[in-house]
Amino acid sequence: MTRRELLGRLLRTPFAGAGGLVLAFLWAGCTSTENRFGGVVTAGRLTDILGQIRRTREPVYVLSARAYVNPFPVSALPAARDVAAYSKVLSGYEAGVVALYQKCVHLGCRVPWCKTSQWFECPCHGSKYNRVGEKKGGPAPRGLDRFAVRIEGGNLSIDTRTIVVGPPIGTDTTRQEADGPHCVSIG
Ligand code: FES
Repeated sequence: MTRRELLGRLLRTPFAGAGGLVLAFLWAGCTSTENRFGGVVTAGRLTDILGQIRRTREPVYVLSARAYVNPFPVSALPAARDVAAYSKVLSGYEAGVVALYQKCVHLGCRVPWCKTSQWFECPCHGSKYNRVGEKKGGPAPRGLDRFAVRIEGGNLSIDTRTIVVGPPIGTDTTRQEADGPHCVSIG
């Protein structure tokens, strides 16, 4: 129901008047998905985000989007353009960024980043994904799901209204191997 429809209904009830209006705005505020999971989430200035990732060697985690932001390398773009599963997120890659849903595509655990291997490694059953969420090992049936992004005025926002299904097993656009020891031994 839109805010306008809600207001119209409330104004036709015994609650009509100031009380009804207060209720309407409170309800609309509670159900708004703006800047939270299920809506479009503002993540911050893209240059700041990429700078932080370079300094820390970790993706930026955006809590309200339940997503990790990582760079998408220019060198991987030609291969990415051939992956049908990437058609809805390619514009973000072309801007140099990927937003990955935190949820493991095996059974749904949150997948943490492993700083030593520079991969995502799931502690539940050992699925492993490279920096851009492509599957590298374990029981996961595909790469990590992801979100489309927008960059406007230098600001990055993550569109969590639609979860874009991750790429099939065998997709390896970056050729990124583990940088060092794994955090999870299984898988
Ligand atoms: Fe991640 Fe099973 S839930 S490997």
